[in-house]
Amino acid sequence: MERLTSPPRLMIVSDLDETMVDHHSDPENLSLLRFNSLWEDAYRHDSLLVFSTGRAPTMYKKLRKQRPLLTPDVIITSVGTEIAYGNSMVPDHNWIEILNNKWDRGIVEEETSKFPELTLQSETEQRPHKLSFHIDKSKVQAVSKQLSQRLEKRGLDIKIIFSGGNAFDVLPQGGGKGQALAYLLKKLKTEGKLPINTLACGDSGNDTELFTIPNIYGVLVSNAQEELLEWYAENAKDNPNIIHATERCAGGIIQAIGHFKLGPNLSPRDVSDFLECKVDNLNPGHEVVKFFLFYERWRRGEVENCETYTASLKASCHPAGVFVHPSGAERSLRDTIDELGKYYGDKKGKKFRVWTDQVLATDTTPGTWIVKLDKWEQTGDERKCCTTTVKFTSKEGEGFVWEHVQQIWSEETEIKDDSNWII
Ligand code: GLC
Ligand code: MG
Repeated sequence: MERLTSPPRLMIVSDLDETMVDHHSDPENLSLLRFNSLWEDAYRHDSLLVFSTGRAPTMYKKLRKQRPLLTPDVIITSVGTEIAYGNSMVPDHNWIEILNNKWDRGIVEEETSKFPELTLQSETEQRPHKLSFHIDKSKVQAVSKQLSQRLEKRGLDIKIIFSGGNAFDVLPQGGGKGQALAYLLKKLKTEGKLPINTLACGDSGNDTELFTIPNIYGVLVSNAQEELLEWYAENAKDNPNIIHATERCAGGIIQAIGHFKLGPNLSPRDVSDFLECKVDNLNPGHEVVKFFLFYERWRRGEVENCETYTASLKASCHPAGVFVHPSGAERSLRDTIDELGKYYGDKKGKKFRVWTDQVLATDTTPGTWIVKLDKWEQTGDERKCCTTTVKFTSKEGEGFVWEHVQQIWSEETEIKDDSNWII
């Protein structure tokens, strides 16, 4: 969050399972990829991305390996009981202090064990401020009532959350996704960085609290669970700031950005011909997002007007521009574009996707920009990432010129095989 010097234009606070990530009807992750390129293209540089998931950190990391998730600025895990910042997930210790109020994990463990209706979830999902069980839906009301009474008698102040038709979480009263968001907003305000707009996105019971935070927009994705829809019907149907989208998962988030007019809502993935799409554009990050989308389409064999495209690309590279391949080999940028020609359609019919993450541009000296990003490439189930640095120059009124591109294997890439890596 330090990189922002002024209030973020938009803060998206989104749940992951069945909200950002569609586990049921989008095996190619197309909605998520649409959201990703919209975010990197139009929001990354001046906005904040927050993921708020029920998963514990280990399970969150697992999901990141399985799906093309962007790197969030803030990650809230374990149903709002763990908050961490940035790439290296630095934990917020102040938050933990707050959660300790009237909480004793041992007592919760002891009292919950007296309910045969509760079956413990896996060990990975049991956290210092979250005990999670499975329960039959018909038992929720009675168990919640009795358990709350017993814990109250023992001096604790807890919160029970029912989600997804079968999950039962016990948390400190001060925890939960809503309280975590309220805490984050307060912290940002103290730093003079209260977001201009905040959009909360969710699909199930543990997301309900997100929609109760004042002065924010909210979207329930079309595929929201029964327990959240019931809450919506009773509490928020007449609130114009909270909508139930008609699109599933990340598609519903993009729909809400458009509905509430929070900023651009056309994903570059929905633009079929980049040559025709002349955006008034002061950010060279856009060039990079567009190029790597073009690159995906090129190798999938989905580009029309191939020659016009390559000619326009070559024209935007400096004649002496150099590309440094992750293997260390160097070649001219224009030769690299020619080389690309040989690979047209080589990934046709294959599960091949390219996406960019953390695209950030800095203008070092007037007329010169450095854009840094992670470029991901996935073929089948194997994926690789290069940290990429691009230097651009631009003269007044003219487009950006690619001067230099350098790639190095990212730490997250396990198989560092450069044989089929072009750019
Ligand atoms: C996630 C967590 C689980 C929790 C559920 C509902 O699925 O992994 O522990 O019970 O969210 O909050
Ligand atoms: Mg969910």
